[in-house]
Amino acid sequence: MANFQLPKNSQVKVGQTHKAEPGAKDVRSFKIYRWDPDTGENPRYDTYEIDLEQCGPMVLDALIKIKNEVDTTLTFRRSCREGICGSCAMNIDGLNTLACLKPIEDVKGDVKINPLPHMPVVKDLVPDLNQLYAQYRSVEPWLKADTPPPPDAERLQSKDERAKLDGLWECILCFCCSTACPSYWWNGDRYLGPAVLLQAYRWIADSRDEHTGDRLDQLQDPFRLYRCHTIMNCARTCPKGLNPAQAIGEIKKMMVERDG
Ligand code: SF4
Ligand code: SF4
Ligand code: FES
Repeated sequence: MANFQLPKNSQVKVGQTHKAEPGAKDVRSFKIYRWDPDTGENPRYDTYEIDLEQCGPMVLDALIKIKNEVDTTLTFRRSCREGICGSCAMNIDGLNTLACLKPIEDVKGDVKINPLPHMPVVKDLVPDLNQLYAQYRSVEPWLKADTPPPPDAERLQSKDERAKLDGLWECILCFCCSTACPSYWWNGDRYLGPAVLLQAYRWIADSRDEHTGDRLDQLQDPFRLYRCHTIMNCARTCPKGLNPAQAIGEIKKMMVERDG
């Protein structure tokens, strides 16, 4: 898969090299994008030589080791360390993925790490996700029903109805897909992008939701939905193995079935 473009503020220079400790046997270089809004300096790549014999197996283990033992100024998001929270999404070796699920041994040679591409950078590996969260909010990602639930009972679904949510509920909103989508790169202010559209479909497909028509109306727009050109970067990069392009296709199919 082709490497993605660098973040928006990219005129990246070569920065500092932090050498491995003497005696280190299995040394690997991590080349990491650095940018600090407080200094106003150009972004740079700093190199950190890490002894893999003294480091956990995942790229996130190396980042945590660097921050704890080498350079406390390195900034990145992480929380769960097991592919659940979505916060450690970044571009590793040219692919958007989760640092906590990416084995170092899967990368040949230097490990190059950038923030998610084509997003404004807050600092180092931390992208600004405000636009994506505003778009997520715009699809009203919660159950909307006007009829009250049965007394003393949940709103029930059949097994088949529940099965329609498989491949959707697993999304952890890491935004690896949206930031890998060329249509989102060029029209991200108006196109909702694969992550948000997959989430929109998660509620459209829910048999308990009573606002399917309104939800489809909201997406009936030349940009919000129809900028997807089925390039499929989204499905290729999703670290949870989901297929946002397929969900987008299902929404388009429902539009055709409804509007002819
Ligand atoms: S299939 Fe659609 S959403 Fe996925 S990367 Fe391509 S244009 Fe973007
Ligand atoms: S569909 Fe996959 S890549 Fe996109 S936000 Fe959800 S989990 Fe992340
Ligand atoms: S730290 Fe939560 S997904 Fe990686």
